[in-house]
Amino acid sequence: MVWFTKHLSVNNVNFGILGSKDRSALCYYLNQLQALSLPQISELILLMLPLPIPATPLPSIPEIAPKLAYEALEHGQNYWIVDDVLSNANEISERCFAREKWEYGAPYQPESWPGMRFHGALTPDELEQVETKVKQLIGKDKLWMEQPPGGLRLDCNVAQLVGATESSPHPHTDSRRLCRYACVIYLSPNPPPDTGTSFCRLRYPNGAIGGNIVLPPHNNLVDALRVKALPIQAWYEDMRVQNVFNRMILYKANIVHCASGYFGKELRDKRLTTVFFWMTED
Ligand SMILES: [Fe+2]
Repeated sequence: MVWFTKHLSVNNVNFGILGSKDRSALCYYLNQLQALSLPQISELILLMLPLPIPATPLPSIPEIAPKLAYEALEHGQNYWIVDDVLSNANEISERCFAREKWEYGAPYQPESWPGMRFHGALTPDELEQVETKVKQLIGKDKLWMEQPPGGLRLDCNVAQLVGATESSPHPHTDSRRLCRYACVIYLSPNPPPDTGTSFCRLRYPNGAIGGNIVLPPHNNLVDALRVKALPIQAWYEDMRVQNVFNRMILYKANIVHCASGYFGKELRDKRLTTVFFWMTED
């Protein structure tokens, strides 16, 4: 499937737009662009489209296109939000910001993860508190961290610090080989709006709405859709969870998700989170 077949140049800014077979979408974007300033255009191309309002007539999914199943988002079923989750969040946040030794990801190193991070964000006692809560929420007795092959380390209990210019939303699923549940705890004291977590549904070039979940035998989106990467325009935003200090968002890791946005320039102003991935019995 071709997602980018045209390149538009607006005031010398080049960017890809949906394919030539998608004429109605192309006309729609061109009309929208005429009314926008350059900063607005830059912002537009980094944003996911919201789902069309219900009852909007949409074309059906092309027959030959790869498909994803859809699982409606339901609190307590496939995602959970817990506010004030850590009893000592201020202490943990301060400890992370004061950290001296970090690993560097994109754009500083050829890594798939963005910004800076370190392993062991929570102490064993703090981690146990979180895991006890998670087991209670998902109704499982046992959680474990699966280790990837080849001596790699799973990024569980990692603190991640990402600034505004260091990354942008990348819808993905977390590998079913490594985890069933993923969890993020937001630890920036004063986050701007719309910088939490987004859940996404596939958007076909003709505007049709697709699914949101990777099921066996596939492990991730690359397997399921047979593409290495998709542009942000290939997704609709199904739901956005706001970034609130000491909020935990726990979700089934095979549902398509991404950070809604990153922020901050100086170390203490950037988006601080701790992230977790757990395997469970099916
Ligand atoms: Fe993820």
